[in-house]
Amino acid sequence: MKTKEIIISISEFEKLEELSTSDQELILQARASALQAYAPYSNYLVGSSLRLEDGTIVTGNNQENASSPLGTCAERAAIFWANGNYPGLAIETLVVTAIDQNGQPAANVSPCGACRQVMLESQHRFKKPMRIILDSSNKIEVLDNVNGLLPLSFNGNSLKSIV
Ligand code: THU
Repeated sequence: MKTKEIIISISEFEKLEELSTSDQELILQARASALQAYAPYSNYLVGSSLRLEDGTIVTGNNQENASSPLGTCAERAAIFWANGNYPGLAIETLVVTAIDQNGQPAANVSPCGACRQVMLESQHRFKKPMRIILDSSNKIEVLDNVNGLLPLSFNGNSLKSIV
């Protein structure tokens, strides 16, 4: 038996102004996108923005449905649109932010497991690290790549492996 430890590195900032101007711009776009979410059932408005490697910015927000499983998360809306319309461009940085059920910037924003898997696929597809910024009312967290969000992940390599 052996025990392994996985160490995740997260840079935590207190204020928007501590980040680079390009990160600040991207975060503001995510916040703006959250305001345009369609979330009448949860009232949790999520916004995502991403910058492609050529500088193009794409945004997305959660889109709910009365038939609840049909709704989609903000990050997946943004990633799928970006990958579908710019299939040759890697995502350099992706932001997630949210507005809570009281209409205030949400604390402890964190992407769901399904979105982590989709982020990982996009990173894997372009073979370039995708920075992740989690913009919360109480902190702004920056991860250098998706790996820390999904340790022991399942990815395309698993399909090819021969045991
Ligand atoms: N949601 C997202 O948009 N992204 C996440 O990573 C977590 C959850 C949305 C889905 C649903 O519309 C609402 O937040 C409440 O779960």
